[in-house]
Amino acid sequence: MKLFALGLLAVMNVAAAQPSAISPTISPAMRLAATCAACHGTAGHTQGGTLPVLAGQSRQALAASLRDFKSGKRASTIMAQIAKGYSDEQIELLAAYFAAQKPEAQ
Ligand code: HEC
Repeated sequence: MKLFALGLLAVMNVAAAQPSAISPTISPAMRLAATCAACHGTAGHTQGGTLPVLAGQSRQALAASLRDFKSGKRASTIMAQIAKGYSDEQIELLAAYFAAQKPEAQ
């Protein structure tokens, strides 16, 4: 009986982890961009003036920066390692997402 109860709990946990529980308003690009928020701020609104602001940069410039970090063409401290983790399609999604954000008034 105890085992049955444990099994039932396990099944309920799996059910709770189904994607249907995730809000459909979170796009794949937003999910990718969440990784960048720790350093570049929410939606690329970088705070503090030490790191580049991503919000509102052109899509071409963002994609080029990420590709150049990935290939090593552009020198960086951390972005080379981060950019290597993304496919070209994901880089395009990220660039489009940050380009679509309104830059904040400074
Ligand atoms: C651990 C902190 C950190 C994280 C996380 C991070 N970045 Fe960066 N980013 C930096 C730093 C630092 C720079 C400056 C270049 C360097 O030294 O690496 C930078 C520079 C950039 C630039 C160049 C901008 C410009 O105007 O020159 C782009 C584009 C960029 N990051 C995109 C991203 C994206 C997209 C993500 C998420 C997938 C991300 N970053 C995650 C720290 C981070």
